[in-house]
Amino acid sequence: MITAPSVAQLSSRFEEAFGTAPDGVWQAPGRVNLIGEHTDYNEGFVLPFAIDKTARVAIRVRRDSTVRMLSTYGDHGLVETDIATLEPLTAKGWTKYPLGVVWALKQRGIDVPGLDLLLDSDVPLGAGLSSSHAIECAVILALNELTDAGLAAEQMVLATQHAENAFVGAPTGIMDQSASLRGAKGHAVFLDCRDQGVQLVPFEAEEAGLVLLVIDTKVSHSHADGGYASRRESCELGAQVLGVPALRDVGVEMLEEASGLLDDVTFRRVRHVVTENDRVLQTVELLSSDGPQYIGALLDASHVSMRDDFEISCQELDVAVEASRSSGAIGARMTGGGFGGSAIALTPARLEQQVRDAVVIAFADAGFTTPDIFTVTPADGARRLA
Ligand code: GLA
Repeated sequence: MITAPSVAQLSSRFEEAFGTAPDGVWQAPGRVNLIGEHTDYNEGFVLPFAIDKTARVAIRVRRDSTVRMLSTYGDHGLVETDIATLEPLTAKGWTKYPLGVVWALKQRGIDVPGLDLLLDSDVPLGAGLSSSHAIECAVILALNELTDAGLAAEQMVLATQHAENAFVGAPTGIMDQSASLRGAKGHAVFLDCRDQGVQLVPFEAEEAGLVLLVIDTKVSHSHADGGYASRRESCELGAQVLGVPALRDVGVEMLEEASGLLDDVTFRRVRHVVTENDRVLQTVELLSSDGPQYIGALLDASHVSMRDDFEISCQELDVAVEASRSSGAIGARMTGGGFGGSAIALTPARLEQQVRDAVVIAFADAGFTTPDIFTVTPADGARRLA
């Protein structure tokens, strides 16, 4: 296992690369989503949490408008550009995330100076754990402070969404950055995506004798590809035909009527979102009343809905879910935007090894790449480290 460099190590690497010490070091976590998938851009409900895998940026403000960026990923080397020349959809690799934030802040009239930036991250790339938002959130937290912009968390959420949508070109919602900026240890973030209202819901699996396993299928995905955007379009079409501002406004009891008004594909997309919103509310209620050992059936139903109605799963995710369930997990589902990435499996702690083994064997039998399997617990959101 690779251990993240300490703040002192990161600072000294910064100094080696750029010749001066950084102004500070900021950190933001990736996330898993417990439940509530593709509901965020429908103004619905989500229940993600920040994880203890984070992106860290060391930054020093410059006197000119040059941005120099380096990462410990070992790729690309030093990338240098000028703030004045930033154009949406042109940046490459990981640099589009910090540059997207700089661009989005400039669009808001914030005078962002040139920067030297060193990135380090242990959020696995392309694993559906929001490595890109972790970078964006660390950078926006830093720039908010360094420019005295005074943005509240809700405004930082919208600015990073603008960066993703317009600069990176991924039409994503607000779930990931909300979890990264507003997460808290021991809690899931119950977010109302219509007004950004947050309620922190205790999620302490260990106390109930459970662990939450993440199974990274190693099938990498990009939400700038067509699948995510086409799901979003179907949802918007559904809302338009049903005459509501967003699918958030469609209740489960309205689905029968909706089936007569929508074509088959649009209806199934709508049914996923409507039932998923309902599952989020039920999960929050169960976590608050009975505890995590009772939410397994909702996780399972969420996966079936994404597999059959929203059609965003893939064979590897289905095998991960089925192998975990049949070897002892009490509920499992894919997490994140889909088309690859990770699944989560809520598992009795005493059966953890059995489930891990069963998943690895099922992947080998199917001829898939060996997955990465690890446990996660809810961690604190973004903060300044030094
Ligand atoms: C990605 C997006 C989020 C959300 C999820 C699906 O993670 O970034 O905004 O839409 O997919 O729930």
